[in-house]
Amino acid sequence: MKILHVLGTRPNFMKAAPVLRALSSRADAQQILVHTGQHYDRNLSDIFFEQLGIPQPNFNLEVGSGSHAAQTAEIMRRFEPVVLEQKPEVVVVYGDVNSTVAAALVCSKLLVPVAHVEAGLRSFDRTMPEEINRLVTDRLSDFLFTPSVDGDENLANEGVAKKNIYCVGNVMIDTLVNLLPIAERCPKNGLPERYALVTLHRPSNVDDSETLKRILRSLADVGEQLAVVFPAHPRTRRRILDFGIEVQKLHLLDPVPYIEFLALQRGATVVITDSGGIQEETTYLGVPCLTVRNNTERPITTTLGTNILVG
Ligand code: UD1
Repeated sequence: MKILHVLGTRPNFMKAAPVLRALSSRADAQQILVHTGQHYDRNLSDIFFEQLGIPQPNFNLEVGSGSHAAQTAEIMRRFEPVVLEQKPEVVVVYGDVNSTVAAALVCSKLLVPVAHVEAGLRSFDRTMPEEINRLVTDRLSDFLFTPSVDGDENLANEGVAKKNIYCVGNVMIDTLVNLLPIAERCPKNGLPERYALVTLHRPSNVDDSETLKRILRSLADVGEQLAVVFPAHPRTRRRILDFGIEVQKLHLLDPVPYIEFLALQRGATVVITDSGGIQEETTYLGVPCLTVRNNTERPITTTLGTNILVG
């Protein structure tokens, strides 16, 4: 069976790695890898391929950044000829990013079955671009692989047939379990004993100057008591510069590779984030997590895990 996987951004890579590895042991599976190029900086892309043992992509669409419409459309335009040429029997898409929805749209119009890994998650907040991506991708998918039972329930409530829903568990946590022993051997590199680890990149938190200033002021208050280690997404770093915000009390770093970031999470006193996946990783690691959002598409991290919403 010819299986084509579509990857585009940092969180996609952690989800795809265990799926690719599992399928590579099957003699009847021929795998094709397409990187859309939505993330292209070495620290957001290549380093993940190396650390997670993902093979080099067969195709890189090199779409780069753009508005949602421009980026989604460009991925669709460049992906369609690949599907027409390769004729996969199924296309696997991951998570909730623009690459995910763009690939699902192309395949559904070419009548190629779509498998969605991390299906069924809902924040019920349509101001989040990812929520739109999740809704549309699930609607178009033929095989829906959910990470948790709340995903099954959301899909059932939207009328998805039970026979198309497969609760397979959280593949991103499979990657974490696989690489945690290596992360545990990472040197501390002068880190203090206790620190808060921060990531922020949601448009709703970083694109408005007043909101970002308020959040960074709160983090500076945290910094009075606890070192604040803050690997900044390029989008966030640009906004801090554009808005001329002072960040002396925070230790701003470039984005950190997967294994080093896992080590940072494991050693943190608290993690403060607006990421989706980090809510789950901290829950698995038992590290307290404060999520700078009003809602989450991963509710088990608040009911069973270590996560508290502090939007
Ligand atoms: C995307 C996903 C988000 C995910 C995040 C993980 C969508 C809608 N959003 O957000 O769900 O949590 O990835 O990081 O798909 N940039 C660089 N280098 C890169 C990539 C981006 O500098 O390699 C900068 C560009 O200025 C770009 C901005 O970051 O405009 C945003 O990138 P984009 O891929 O549009 O969204 P993310 O914020 O990364």
